[in-house]
Amino acid sequence: MNRRLFFLNQPLGATKPTVGKVVSAVRFQMSGIFLKIIGSAAGGGFPQWNCNYYLSRQAREQNRDITPRTQSSIIASADKKRFVLFNASPDLRQQINETPELHPSTSGPLRNTPIAAVVLTNADIDHIAGLLNLRERQPLMIYATRRVLQTLDDNPVFRVLDSAIVKKQELVLDKATQLCNVDGIPLGITIEAFAVPGKIALFMEDVSKPDFGSAEGDTIGLKIAGSGGEAAAFYIPGCAAVDESLKARVNGARCLLFDGTLYRDDEMIAAGLGPKAGKRMGHISMSGADGSVAAWAGVDIERKIFVHINNSNPVLDARSNERKKIEEAGWDVAGDGMEINL
Ligand code: MLT
Ligand code: MN
Repeated sequence: MNRRLFFLNQPLGATKPTVGKVVSAVRFQMSGIFLKIIGSAAGGGFPQWNCNYYLSRQAREQNRDITPRTQSSIIASADKKRFVLFNASPDLRQQINETPELHPSTSGPLRNTPIAAVVLTNADIDHIAGLLNLRERQPLMIYATRRVLQTLDDNPVFRVLDSAIVKKQELVLDKATQLCNVDGIPLGITIEAFAVPGKIALFMEDVSKPDFGSAEGDTIGLKIAGSGGEAAAFYIPGCAAVDESLKARVNGARCLLFDGTLYRDDEMIAAGLGPKAGKRMGHISMSGADGSVAAWAGVDIERKIFVHINNSNPVLDARSNERKKIEEAGWDVAGDGMEINL
């Protein structure tokens, strides 16, 4: 078994040395929340369909140090029977096929799914296009901010999710929300949505407006906990900056799954892959004095894992110096199938 996956499969509290830290008993209480990263790449996936950069090329060549990844999504469950999907990627059909936990129960009705609810952190294509895969007349809850729900409502293609059986609930920022199935039965998971620095979805940008028309609620982070609020993980796949209030919110967390889109702010420009810097795309980079590794360095977090990795990011190569640097700083790079038991 891969050592890293084995490590991550253990209860977090049992595997991470705590010497030198004051840790409350509550932090080590087992709540039984199970998380799985089913897609660890950013928009475009890895390899990206039209990309001839060395990373995508070597991922296609089955290089064991540079492994393919599907687009950005995680799942969570309190009972390993009913699952919440956090972001619905364009690769969702493949992700479901490759994730036994998400297969229909063989003892259930002819049409069934363990996916009871979907939570969206923004309206970018990599996080909403998979909703179209969930259209086969399946009851579901969709949770998102008013801004993101409005984007779905404004795009008629999403009417394929019949509103008679697919219910939407607005996430109110900074308020705990108990996730339920469409019948109102709690799933044992509580989330708290909060605004993070970011921007409106790429396809919604209006260049004539300040910040391209972005407003609060376009990009959120999520605290994911048990029904009593215990054993929190934070899921923040898109974030433009780490400010003091975000650090204070996450301080003491069991696990942080954070925006790992780029290593360097100008890496896409430098590689000739595109004209945009990370800051323009609403993504803080890992490296540098104003990067995420430095920003999170003094914050008490048990496990730090980068998700939403872009196909330009050199940390995708397990042998790279950049990978070594972030691992030395206490970070892991997510891979598809990585499990975390809180
Ligand atoms: C992003 O995270 O910046 C977006 O997923 C970009 C995109 O939609 O391609
Ligand atoms: Mn994205």
